[in-house]
Amino acid sequence: MAAPISSIFLAALLLLLCVLPTFELRELTAEDYHHTLQVSSLLPSSVCSTYEGLEKMPSSLKVVHKHGPCSNLHQKESSAPTHAEVLLQDQDRVNSIHSRLANSGDTKKTDATTLPAYHGSTIGTGNYIVTVGLGTPRTDLSLEFDTGSDITWTQCEPCVSYCYKQKEPIFDPSKSTSYLNIPCASSICRSLPANSSGCSSSTCVYAVQYGDSSYTIGFFAKERLTLTSTDVFDTFLFGCGENNRGLFRGAAGLLGLGRNKFSFPSQTAQKYNKLFSYCLPSSASSTGYLTFGNSGISSSVKFTPSPKLGETFYGLNIIGISVGGNRLSISSSVFYNAGTIIDSGTVITRLPPTAYSALRTAFRQGTSTYPSADALGILDTCYDFSNYDTIRVPRISIFFSGGVQVDINVSGVFFAADVSQVCLAFAGNSDDSDVGIFGNVQQKTFQVVYDNVGGRVGFAAGGCR
Ligand SMILES: *[C@@H]1O[C@H](CO)[C@@H](O)[C@H](O)[C@H]1NC(C)=O
Ligand SMILES: *[C@@H]1O[C@H](CO)[C@@H](O)[C@H](O)[C@H]1NC(C)=O
Repeated sequence: MAAPISSIFLAALLLLLCVLPTFELRELTAEDYHHTLQVSSLLPSSVCSTYEGLEKMPSSLKVVHKHGPCSNLHQKESSAPTHAEVLLQDQDRVNSIHSRLANSGDTKKTDATTLPAYHGSTIGTGNYIVTVGLGTPRTDLSLEFDTGSDITWTQCEPCVSYCYKQKEPIFDPSKSTSYLNIPCASSICRSLPANSSGCSSSTCVYAVQYGDSSYTIGFFAKERLTLTSTDVFDTFLFGCGENNRGLFRGAAGLLGLGRNKFSFPSQTAQKYNKLFSYCLPSSASSTGYLTFGNSGISSSVKFTPSPKLGETFYGLNIIGISVGGNRLSISSSVFYNAGTIIDSGTVITRLPPTAYSALRTAFRQGTSTYPSADALGILDTCYDFSNYDTIRVPRISIFFSGGVQVDINVSGVFFAADVSQVCLAFAGNSDDSDVGIFGNVQQKTFQVVYDNVGGRVGFAAGGCR
């Protein structure tokens, strides 16, 4: 009597344990490990929608994409770079990061230039803009913010050699009561790298050369920098550039968020403890934020160790990648040997070629029902979605040391030139020994937290729209 009951019970239990749960799980995982999205959402709207969240926090600046409708630098479409140009310039930036890290500690690289230079500093064009106030009375300036460089600078009147065209009036130090030049003999001037500084009428001169042959030269000076009404720095060291050339396209200069002692986080360490966070919006038609100090940091942020790379860069340890929920078989030594940095100015994430080809294979398998399209520059996995309203693509997750899993947002999977040419926004480096770069497309919608004192970088999903 007991046996049939228990076997019925067992059968019911088995049914519950195996059949029902696996059925439910399958449904769940299918949705969990894929994105279903509208093809129309791949292209930015022509109207700006402002994110009203964190940018109202103290010590916060609104972040806009330089060429989107939220930017006051937004120009006629003809003067914005094409998608192909953005990718070419992105590769210039990556090349300069590679040569800079590969050559740190030796001097074998020689540039065919007579400019004094911060060797191979980097600039790109997939850049994000914040607006800060400089001087007294304050002048509002739109600066590209850049975790891959250190010195903050803006173009300055009287532009003795050259200023490129910028949208806002060029900063004029003679009209500011708080501007101070720095004497050549001062310890500040002498602590600029010897080949990046000079002297003109006993006044300190700086020079920064970027990897794509953009440069800025001018007076290294002190000035009042105003972030918000409560966040004012009276003697901020900055470059007042009187000879500036390059692909800055309308921005007034650059806000350096790197790690060296002249960077903005280092100079404001007393107030913010070298802590900042940002959220890059899902599209060029929405806004994000850049926040200094620990206000507004999400309670769900997960931190991963950030090894120092060179004197500027923030490192990351990638340990694995999954596509559609399946972990790719890539030896951990592939990531370990290359190393990785996180960069706000590199557009497309660069992986060691061994890792990229595994990612590409898995992603192509998961999207094999869609027609392919021509490659776009460095992007070799492209689709023609023009006959689809919605598409379903596998989720990509990146695993970092310390148990941190970043599920790339749907806005961080593709780089779309047009609905007929939508490309996977990852690329391989040319060599497995080149440093990997976690680029800004993949950072979209995450709150990314840089804790320079703690030596860690954090990610929280849903940081902004
Ligand atoms: C400038 O000096 C640094 C270290 O002093 C060196 O690594 C770099 O190669 C120099 N740059 C140039 C362009 O000579
Ligand atoms: C992508 O980001 C948006 C904006 O934060 C969020 O609403 C959405 O849930 C995210 N999607 C995924 C799959 O993480």
